[in-house]
Amino acid sequence: MDAFTFNTSKSIQFGVGALGRIGELVRQQIGDCVMLVTDPGMMATGIVEKALQPLQDAGVTVELFADVEADPPERVVLKATEHAISVGVSGVIGLGGGSSLDVAKLVALLARGEEQLMDIYGVGNAKGPRLPLILVPTTAGTGSEVTPISIVTTGKNEKMGVVSPVLLPDIALLDPELTYGLPPHITAATGIDAMVHAIEAYASASPNNNPVSRMLAVQALTLMGRSILKAVHEGKNVEARSDMLLGSMLAGQAFANSPVAAVHALAYPLGGHFHIPHGLSNALVLPHVLRFNAVTAPQPYAELAPYVFPNLADMEGQERAAAFCDRLADLSLACGLQPNLRAMNIPEDFLPRLASDAMNQTRLLVNNPRPVSEADALAIYRAAF
Ligand SMILES: [Fe+2]
Repeated sequence: MDAFTFNTSKSIQFGVGALGRIGELVRQQIGDCVMLVTDPGMMATGIVEKALQPLQDAGVTVELFADVEADPPERVVLKATEHAISVGVSGVIGLGGGSSLDVAKLVALLARGEEQLMDIYGVGNAKGPRLPLILVPTTAGTGSEVTPISIVTTGKNEKMGVVSPVLLPDIALLDPELTYGLPPHITAATGIDAMVHAIEAYASASPNNNPVSRMLAVQALTLMGRSILKAVHEGKNVEARSDMLLGSMLAGQAFANSPVAAVHALAYPLGGHFHIPHGLSNALVLPHVLRFNAVTAPQPYAELAPYVFPNLADMEGQERAAAFCDRLADLSLACGLQPNLRAMNIPEDFLPRLASDAMNQTRLLVNNPRPVSEADALAIYRAAF
């Protein structure tokens, strides 16, 4: 067996109502003054209130930073950090979707005052230590609560990542109740994104693709395959929401250690140019990238197929892999997501630009089970059009 490394968050606490324990957790493990990093949307849902109450009851002073924006720009990270340093907080809580959790990770690191944001972009440049950190996701998608990655928007549209195990939180606190109110289209897009994390992690050509990640990916897809439609169409279904939140976390653990590939590489230019949400971008190219990969590498998809769609168990090999791709396309539609790039008003003559931009995602493309040339990327975008 090949050598590998697997890192994840130190403690995972999962359960309906788990947020009610945050006061005692902070009191025991962080101290009596904490910064809560979130966004204005979260304030409006009442979830922030739900977190503040147990903190208050435990006698914890909370410095609220609720200015996180989607695709968080550097200035948001710096502003939150400055605030945390000026108050002298003893720890950080991130509450929200991927953006809030990504900002919270960086604030916990930078508020120590020992490292500067501009010096830590890239892999392994952030060294720590950081302040104690608890992450509480409110979407079932990014898995940010168990990934060592923080993505920041630098300049106008460019994104840069900080990747380091020091960003993994001390506690990932997962409460399915927090996802009950997510609207159907967000549930669908974030849910498909999480399924893509598991699929790409399982099939990744990364030298660190490992048996732990593959096991987690299988379990993630089993949970999300049986529950995504229910979560989309019956938002308050406790079992379905629990499956999705747990599944997205397991998928996060999988891809944090066996990284994603061409589906994400081809999705990013759609977000960059047309501001299509990350999950939807993934859904639009997913079946087409998988069909391309299945020509030379059908095995992983044939293996995964029956976990997501149990009635594909009767098929074998290439036929089963092909059916997996088709059924995933059907699943996106059944979730109410747009069928193709045309429906997103993307001009057909823009496809070559998307293909050339996708080629810049070399850190992802190297993990794809089949090499992707610019001509291949263009053919995939045309199929997705
Ligand atoms: Fe993703």
